[in-house]
Amino acid sequence: MGKKVTVVGAGFYGSTTAQRLAEYDIFETVVLTDILEGRPAGLALDLNQSRAVEGFETKVVGATTGTDGSGYEAIEGSDVVVVTAGFPRKPGMSRMDLLEVNAKIVRQVAENIAKYAPNAVVIVVSNPVDEMTALAQIATQFPKNRVFGQAGVLDTARFTNFIAETLAVPVKSVEALTLGSHGDTMVPVPSKCKVNGKPLSDLMPADKIEELVVKTRNGGAEVNNLLKTGSAFYAPSAAAARMAKAVAEDSGAVMPVCAWVDGEYGISGVYLGVLAEIGATGLKKIVETDLTDTEVAGLKEAAEAVRAKQADVANL
Ligand code: APR
Repeated sequence: MGKKVTVVGAGFYGSTTAQRLAEYDIFETVVLTDILEGRPAGLALDLNQSRAVEGFETKVVGATTGTDGSGYEAIEGSDVVVVTAGFPRKPGMSRMDLLEVNAKIVRQVAENIAKYAPNAVVIVVSNPVDEMTALAQIATQFPKNRVFGQAGVLDTARFTNFIAETLAVPVKSVEALTLGSHGDTMVPVPSKCKVNGKPLSDLMPADKIEELVVKTRNGGAEVNNLLKTGSAFYAPSAAAARMAKAVAEDSGAVMPVCAWVDGEYGISGVYLGVLAEIGATGLKKIVETDLTDTEVAGLKEAAEAVRAKQADVANL
């Protein structure tokens, strides 16, 4: 049987994710849901009308769901569910300012996923993503490797773009990596950054690398400030869609994701941005990579920064 993916939340992030997933043409069905009446159905209709031009056979289905769980039958049998429901930041807000309001939404969404798509792999993108991922796992009670978050693919893509622009080289020639949390304790990993196989540190002075690291950390806020309403969605949806594709294709691709860490790098009991192998059952394993002492220290700092907040979400 063909694969089915659901995107919960038909806002900017969700609708662009659904579009990318449909255009991959690897799914039988893409379901797009929202609490708004009509919007998911309208977007689905619109996307289906693009099939002849874009050349994909995937059917897009829109469904309005109620906070009481009505309408969730539409997600039954989903192999993957991407959770984008929730408020985005306004200029000047930190992702953490969204914690309480989005926790209510994500908990309700996760409970319905557990009920209607009990075998799905869940990819969370709602912010603050490290905490919302932890909450989705608690609310679904799914195995921890079956619930993970999107941040690292996006942060790495931003870092890659800034390196490529600065050195005026194709993005394809750049290898970059960011770990840690999706916020102030993001850990860009310059020791793993290469351009055409050459270490980044051979091509740029340390202060320039640091400047790009800071720009990467503020990558989302910079977009936010320009948009004034709403937050970034093109790069974020590209990242989330790639992760869902890796699940659907059981590809074994290794990506930086927000994953449950259990002893890796000497860190335990927290959702944190690390490299992991993605497959049909979720995360097959965490991939520990060689890091410098400073980078491991950064990762530990990130873990401690999110640990307390993640414990708190159990009560939200
Ligand atoms: N169930 C389903 N959808 C919901 C629910 C719910 N309980 N609550 C809200 N939504 C929907 C809203 O109706 C809205 O259409 O979530 C959608 C969010 O869309 P946008 O406001 O456009 O926000 P977007 O840019 O898509 O960001 C979504 O991703 O990057 C994060 O910080 C961002 O948390 C935000 C999320």
